[in-house]
Amino acid sequence: MDFSSDTSAPADPTILQALLTANEGMAPSYGADALSARVKSQLTEIFEADLEVYLVSSGTAANALALSLICPSHGAVLCHEEAHIEKDERGAPEFFTGGGKLQLLPGEHARIDVAALQSALNARNAGFVHETPAMALSLTNLTESGAAYSISDIAELSGLAREHNLPVHLDGARFANALQALGASPAEMSWKAGVDILTCGATKNGAMGCEAIILFGDMRDRFFELQTRAKRAGHMPAKMRFLAAQMSAYLEDDLWLTLAGQANAAARELVAILASAGFDRFAHPVDGNEVFVYLPDQIFEDLTNRGLKAYRWLDGSVRFVCNWATSDLELSAFRRELTQITK
Ligand SMILES: Cc1ncc(COP(=O)(O)O)c(C=O)c1O
Repeated sequence: MDFSSDTSAPADPTILQALLTANEGMAPSYGADALSARVKSQLTEIFEADLEVYLVSSGTAANALALSLICPSHGAVLCHEEAHIEKDERGAPEFFTGGGKLQLLPGEHARIDVAALQSALNARNAGFVHETPAMALSLTNLTESGAAYSISDIAELSGLAREHNLPVHLDGARFANALQALGASPAEMSWKAGVDILTCGATKNGAMGCEAIILFGDMRDRFFELQTRAKRAGHMPAKMRFLAAQMSAYLEDDLWLTLAGQANAAARELVAILASAGFDRFAHPVDGNEVFVYLPDQIFEDLTNRGLKAYRWLDGSVRFVCNWATSDLELSAFRRELTQITK
């Protein structure tokens, strides 16, 4: 009953097999290999757009490199106060931008409140030398509370940023889970909704460690700069083919959507199990693979003693994260233990 995090999940065997296949013989280094080219053509087709892509091995590196491309050292990135880039990256965005700040905005379920963004943008005065002006907007989908922004939410927030010529970054550590939640296409949830630069995660959804930084539209002109920044930051592995092998297998035959669908379905089942035992107060909408539920201390303790792994959250709820490999066996074990405790 391990619902601690999707980062603790195993890698999908198809992806591991792709690594073995990629291991045959020599291949050009630093991204000049055939698999890296294949990833670009797969993504171009999937996103229905010309794009550039750069692969890294962690979500933090992906976010920080992406933000360094759109926020100068003397600017700020507008983001939610619960955003991963704010709460969980040890200042990596500030480090990679060379001093850029994060400007925090409120909003329910870690979705940026439209009025709050509007007033931050209206108050912005980039011509005033003493101010640290917002230079970019960063959104996260799924949000850090497991909720999804709808396509129109993203388009609305991006539209406001664009009125002020601010580029838009989307942290898609759980992009596939969000796609499955919304039934949207990758294009609809990214460039068509005004996203300029997407960090698209695979690690939490079946890869061993691979995230794509994807540049759309005019942002593609900055690709060389992104490469130089990655190199300088030590994020240009010689054997890039092994990152590409993961991403290519992840995208092939919609594996990413299948895996995310499994994780989201497991979360829906978990909600049903909790609700049938009378625990139906959730801190946030369960749109994807994460469940934040209010559980009495004693219940949580008893479940933990019976082998549950999940975290008590700061808001008092308990966070359960399902992943592509969450099994029916685990879910039925959870149902059994919960039933025994509450009967
Ligand atoms: C929304 C979000 N963005 C980025 C990351 C960063 O990923 P990593 O831990 O690979 O650096 C995470 C990881 O939990 C995340 O949840």
